[in-house]
Amino acid sequence: MHKRTTLRGLAAATLTLGFGLAGQTASAADTGPIKIGLVLPMTGQQASTGRQIDAAVKLYMAQNNPVIAGRKVEVIVKDDASTPDQTRRLAQELVVNDKVVALAGFGITPSAMATAPIATQSKTPMVVMAAATSSITEASPYILRTSFTLPQAAVGIAEWAAKNGIKKVVTLVADYGPGNDAEKYFADRFLLNSGQVLEKLRTPLRSPDFAPVLQKVRDAKPDALFVFLPSGQGAQFMKQFAERGLDKAGIRLIGTGDITDDDQLNDMGDVALGVVTAHHYAASHKSAVNQKFVEAFKKANNGMRPNFMAVGGYDGMRVIYNALNTTKGAGGEALLAAMVAHPVLVNRPIVATPRGVRLCRPSERTLDLLDKWPPGPFAKESGELIIDASGQRVA
Ligand code: DHB
Repeated sequence: MHKRTTLRGLAAATLTLGFGLAGQTASAADTGPIKIGLVLPMTGQQASTGRQIDAAVKLYMAQNNPVIAGRKVEVIVKDDASTPDQTRRLAQELVVNDKVVALAGFGITPSAMATAPIATQSKTPMVVMAAATSSITEASPYILRTSFTLPQAAVGIAEWAAKNGIKKVVTLVADYGPGNDAEKYFADRFLLNSGQVLEKLRTPLRSPDFAPVLQKVRDAKPDALFVFLPSGQGAQFMKQFAERGLDKAGIRLIGTGDITDDDQLNDMGDVALGVVTAHHYAASHKSAVNQKFVEAFKKANNGMRPNFMAVGGYDGMRVIYNALNTTKGAGGEALLAAMVAHPVLVNRPIVATPRGVRLCRPSERTLDLLDKWPPGPFAKESGELIIDASGQRVA
């Protein structure tokens, strides 16, 4: 939080020009729609990400009256086909021409990174609903994220592997930001738990060919193969894994939940049985709030099952709506401050300690994972006491 404030101050002092204050403050003249720019890959290799997020945003709009301070909320969807230059150009048009109060979406890390300077220079909050390289939020003080980060998922599965008899692993990741994160954080945690990484393999983000790397995996004879591939590539990968008989060769498949994507799970066949992945979301999660979400999503989308991208989109829309309600439709610094004031969904709260990995909401669940608690009395952000003056947990 301190870092964010510092960076924001720096940005305000040094970056300007080209955007003016277009559409960033509410005034009596603001009677037209409140516009939100949603830049997504609706076509190309990452189209499932776009389809899922677009559907989730529409569901949120349908469930929540799209009128704030008497003005209609309008979402403008643009297809960047996962081409970063396009993402940046579309975001700039949305800010300058359409005067959107917030930018949102961003299917892959390079698209989010390419757009960060637009958010900074125009002081437009940018809600990353999909891209998941850990460093993205450092690229602009105006970026918030409602997706997740690869280290959160990779550390979780590294813990599980070490505790479940897996000693030798080969890693295989898509060769770009989130893949680097997944490879590094998996290996670091696995080595810490006395595991061994035999080989680190990579495939290109665009049109990957898994045959050569799968042959290398076979030759290395690991106990398990750890995989990160972006959403949309999991089914193809599993098919080739099975076609080359790796499932029958006694090599377990583990990974981040991106490869057991709920959007594609039904197309994967039996090879997906027994695959173990760690992630922040699964459509099968039993909580009442999730069941309700899944049902509503399916109903609105011809039975399509929501995946983790949909949840990033739904939660992102909720962050934007809540904040717009606070600012009465104003954008810019006021909107950013209103978003950050309610961080429940921002920085998806998965906590990993030597005691395990857990989704720590409500936030006091973090105490289960700590050896030493802060001295009491200790309250959470809402003011609710969780440790009393005598050091006893009360929530
Ligand atoms: C990214 C994209 C994905 O589809 C995914 O599942 C994880 C990360 C990314 O580019 O950041």
